[in-house]
Formats: sequence, C-alpha cells, structure tokens
Amino acid sequence: MSEQRMLDKKIVVGVTGSIAAYKAADLVRRLQDEGAQVRVVMTKAACEFITPLTLQALSGYPVATDLLDPSQEASMGHITLARWADWIVIAPASADTISRLVQGRSDDLLSALCLASESPLAVAPAMNNKMWENQATQDNINILQSRDVHIIGPGSGIQACGELGEGRLIEPLELIAELARLMVPAKLQGKRVLITAGPTYEPIDPVRFIGNRSSGKMGFAVAKAAIEAGAIVTLVAGPVHLTTPNGVKRVNVETAQQMCDAVMTDIEQFDIFVACAAVADYRPEQIESNKIKKTQSANLQLNLKATQDIVSTVAEQKTRPFIVGFAAETQSVTDYAQQKLQRKKLDMIAANQVGDGVGFAEDDNALQVFWESGSEVLPLAPKTQLARDLMTLIIERYDAKDST
Ligand code: C5P
Repeated sequence: MSEQRMLDKKIVVGVTGSIAAYKAADLVRRLQDEGAQVRVVMTKAACEFITPLTLQALSGYPVATDLLDPSQEASMGHITLARWADWIVIAPASADTISRLVQGRSDDLLSALCLASESPLAVAPAMNNKMWENQATQDNINILQSRDVHIIGPGSGIQACGELGEGRLIEPLELIAELARLMVPAKLQGKRVLITAGPTYEPIDPVRFIGNRSSGKMGFAVAKAAIEAGAIVTLVAGPVHLTTPNGVKRVNVETAQQMCDAVMTDIEQFDIFVACAAVADYRPEQIESNKIKKTQSANLQLNLKATQDIVSTVAEQKTRPFIVGFAAETQSVTDYAQQKLQRKKLDMIAANQVGDGVGFAEDDNALQVFWESGSEVLPLAPKTQLARDLMTLIIERYDAKDST
C-alpha cells in the first residue's frame, strides 16, 4: 500500500441531506485507508438518504446525529468533537448546510460543531446545478471562502435530478487528494511572493496596441499555488479577464513600463519573484495622440523601441529575491532556456513550447525547468496542477539556496 497521507489525523466527516450522501461511505473508508481516525456526524436530512448504521459500521464508532441527546453528549458532544477534530470535512454539503454555516447557526449538531471548532473546515458542495448557480449560493460560497473555509468541488456532469451541469459531489478519491494537499504544512508561511502574469499592451494610438496571445492562466495558477503554500502573494497582471485567486493582492497594469514600475515598487520586500508575464519586448517609440488614418500608401512604418527587461532589472538589485523566469519558445526550447537562465541571471527558468495551439491559451501545459545545477521535466497537466508542481520545485531550490 502507498504512503498514508493522513496518518493519525483526526477527521470529523459531516454528512448532510443529499442524494450523494451514499458516497460518504466510500469517503470514510478511504480516509481510514490514508491512516485517518474518523468520526461521523449526520444531519437529520442525511439520515433520510443513508442510515447511521452504515457509517457506524464503516467508521467503527457511533454516528452522532443529535445536538441534545444526553447519551451522545456524555460521550462525544459538539464541544468534545470540536476539540477532538484536526479537520472537519462536510461531504456532501447541501445548499441548506452551506447557508447555515454562513449564518453561524447552532441549532443542530453539525452547525454547532463547526461554530465551536477552530480546526480547518473543508466543504464539498453537492446540489442541483440551478441551486449551485443561484446567486444566493454563490454569495454564500464567497463568504465561506473569505473565512478561509476550503471549498472542494463541486464537479460537473449528469446529476441525480437528470440535469447536466455543475453541482455534483466531487469524487471521493479527488476529494481525498485535495485534502491531503491541504494538510501538508504550508512551506512558504510568511514569505512574500511577487508574480507577473498575462500580456502587456503597448499603445500605438488611442485605439490600437501591440499585444500578444498570453492568457495569464499560468501566472494566475502560480499565484494560487503560492497562496496554497502559505505565501503572501502580489500578482501584477496585464490585461486579462481572469478571477483573482482568493487571498491574492492584484495590481492591474497595461504596458511593460507600468508592469516594471509596479514590480519595482517594494521589490526588496519580496522573497521570491516569478516572472510569468509575456512582456512586450518592443513598444512604439511614439504614441500618436490621434487615430492613425489609412493612406494611399501600401506600407506603414512603425518605429519600435526596446522595453525595459523587468526580470533582468530585478536580478540586478543588490538584495534580490529568488528569481524564476519563463521562456516560451517555438523552437530549440532547451538551448534558449539555458542561455536565458544565464543571460538574465535567473535562479530558475521554466521553459515551454508555444505555437500551433500549444501553450498560451490552453488549460494544459508541460514545462522543462532548469537551474544552475539541474533540470526537471514537469509533464503535461492542467495549469493549476502544473503550477503546484512548479511551486514545489521553486520551494526546494529556494530552500537549497537559502541554506548555502
Ligand atoms: O527574453 P524573453 O522575453 O524570452 O524572456 C522571458 C522572461 O523574461 C519571462 O520570465 C518574462 O516575464 C521576462 N521578461 C521581462 N521583461 C521583459 C521581457 C521579458 O520580465 N521586458
């Protein structure tokens, strides 16, 4: 059997009223396989879908269902359970339970337990897709996230009600993978990470600009991975329409010069700088104040001037952060990346092939990462996962450099 990722972790599994309640049985078993000690709390509605006896048999302990049951209070009431739990995981979490958590209710065992506990709380929503999309539920989810509750899922697909959409309980194996990741102690606690993301737009005249196809997805995923690792994160973003990951301070910019200015403000405060942005290498030397008119001439000449290289400017600072650059290349990826690592005096460079539908706007990517004394391939994966793998490498190299 593989390594137990939750050895001796005390986990309360809260089960609420949803057709997906049956999946809690699988979840309990798999948590135990990971080495966790599990106690189950069920709401009244959950007991309509699956019997407490099933979960009692699987967990090996009586299932708590009532807030005011004298026999249960004597063994493990809400306060005792709240103190016992290293983690509380509500799966499935119904729309009703989610809104009760938002309100801070305490009129049933599960709500009272969550209110009384200081332990981390993970919530795996499960409901009809219209209920999930309803602004009331979305507002509730945002409020829970702002209180540092971990929302895991939901997944999408065919639902029990026959509709297609988002709202399915995330599969137990995926839920466990996410929990295991969250349980790893945050390695960048208290560290400050600065990230650039997206393209830059270099104005030609009031309506036109020179831009590029960077979507910003990788930089935003890196920002999220840094937050997950416990860092304090600032994201300097070029013009992209992406949601800011929770907890990230975002600074919006448009041009290379604005990005450079934003980066250089307080640069000495940062421990790690990840330059994901596809910064324009050249900008029009002159920005026309009026829209350039079409003429009879077949050609139009624009004079371009090199922009300031942001990552190199950071690398030249006396007290410089650990610097990670990116290299998006259409050919000779390894050679160009290694040259860039040295020329720009980077600590690490993440290279990828772009063009022909690979790279920029895609959700998946692969990276080849180089540093002075080594390299590693991060195989094709969704950018969110790839960013986590990259962050793991960054932390390793940052720690190695820090200890020399
Ligand atoms: O030289 P090239 O643009 O290929 O280098 C890419 C790396 O340099 C990326 O990390 C990118 O964010 C950074 N860069 C920069 N400022 C520029 C151009 C590139 O920080 N003006």
